[in-house]
Amino acid sequence: MSVRRTEEFVVRDATQLYLFEPLQTPVKALDISRLGTFQDCLRAPVHRWFKYPAGFSYRLVETLIDEFRLTQAHWILDPFVGCGTVSVVAKQRGVNSVGLEAHPFVHWVACVKCFWEFDMKRLHRKLVELLACVCFPSAHDLSQQDLTEFPNLLHKCFSEQNLRKLKFLRETIMGFDLLPEERDLFLLALVDTLRTATKAGAGWPYIAPSKYHEKQERDAIEVFRETAEMFYQDLVTIRTNWLKLPVTCDLLLHDARQPYPLDEASIDLAVTSPPYLNNYDYADRTRLELYFLGWARSWRDITEQIRDRLIVAATTQVRRTEFDGEPLSDELKLLAPAIYKELRTKITQLSQIRHSKGGKKSYDLMVAGYFNDIIQVLKQVYRVLKPGSPFVLVLGDSAPYGVHIPTDVYLGEISLGLGFRRYTIQTLRKRGEKWRNNPQRHKVALKEVLLTLWR
Ligand SMILES: C[S@@+](CC[C@H](N)C(=O)[O-])C[C@H]1O[C@@H](n2cnc3c(N)ncnc32)[C@H](O)[C@@H]1O
Repeated sequence: MSVRRTEEFVVRDATQLYLFEPLQTPVKALDISRLGTFQDCLRAPVHRWFKYPAGFSYRLVETLIDEFRLTQAHWILDPFVGCGTVSVVAKQRGVNSVGLEAHPFVHWVACVKCFWEFDMKRLHRKLVELLACVCFPSAHDLSQQDLTEFPNLLHKCFSEQNLRKLKFLRETIMGFDLLPEERDLFLLALVDTLRTATKAGAGWPYIAPSKYHEKQERDAIEVFRETAEMFYQDLVTIRTNWLKLPVTCDLLLHDARQPYPLDEASIDLAVTSPPYLNNYDYADRTRLELYFLGWARSWRDITEQIRDRLIVAATTQVRRTEFDGEPLSDELKLLAPAIYKELRTKITQLSQIRHSKGGKKSYDLMVAGYFNDIIQVLKQVYRVLKPGSPFVLVLGDSAPYGVHIPTDVYLGEISLGLGFRRYTIQTLRKRGEKWRNNPQRHKVALKEVLLTLWR
């Protein structure tokens, strides 16, 4: 075994023997300046349709497509596709793609962002008709909206009048003469309106209306008009630069830990940003949207329909009473005994520290659950990747209660146990700087990296 290391770039080989490199790619660091940051997705056409912590910029995907010279003959997989950054770029550049997402609402957003085959003349006509119908509602239109269906969160986020307007918009879109794809497009424009119009501090990553972050409420109808027009313009733009090659863009509502209907050795590049071990609850972060659409009405609904289907990355997903005995899986022990031992020690530390903390957070079980789950994801990706092909992950390490978990190295070592031939780690940026002066926070320096596992 060999390890080559500079401060920014680490290469770890399981074997010195490389039989073939189908994508003809040297083991080298990517030019970081080309990769952008996730903020790019908040500005780019179509990518900006729903603000979501995408994990990386669409420019990373473009760079990888160029670097590995992917064409219409190749396939890209993202096992945690979220709102579809990878799928949008792959479709635009004419590469086949499959994206998996287990969160039904987020999966729906990705599907809407990836449908561009509109009759644009008709869509424009429908947009004009819809706006004419909603822009000047009568007092009667608004007063007849019954708001009792909405959980308290919606009432805290909007004034009564604005909430009436939002419901009026929703009902009008649902009842309008539209094709299903047109309806979805306008509905997503309405969903994207929520966080812009609200008076609450509801920008990412906040969902709970907070006085501290409170802002000026905006007229929901006005924001919807701007957003729907922006969506239409984005479609015009993206269709102009679209290669329109006959490629597949599949988005499966699927748990990435479970086998999926892809052939063995069929994928040329896997790329993803998995949930980090940073106690970020993806189910909770879409509560406002789920409640507004009526897809959920309570914490329990969200747990049953979403939270329980996602890999463990937040303490809200842990039910302590269900654990009895060793939380780390035997599989991990077999695949990477040294990592297992190190994780055991850290989990024990966390289970002790929690008793001295007010919140008594179950970081110990969260960390164990994360690694147990992510092994299943790595196994599935290994199965479908072509030999010699890379699995690129953008991910961060973490330090719950100040105990450092180097997720990048752990996942790299586990992947060698699974059969991947080598891994590389390239540092992208330091993280957590803005919390530095918060006395509640740990002092561990965190980073975000590009971890590449070579099949
Ligand atoms: C960092 S986000 C990925 C964002 C994505 N790059 C984008 O463009 O929006 C991680 C995603 O993994 C999803 N996820 C979590 N557990 C999953 C599972 N078991 N199977 C599939 N997706 C899952 C979450 O719902 C979340 O959307």
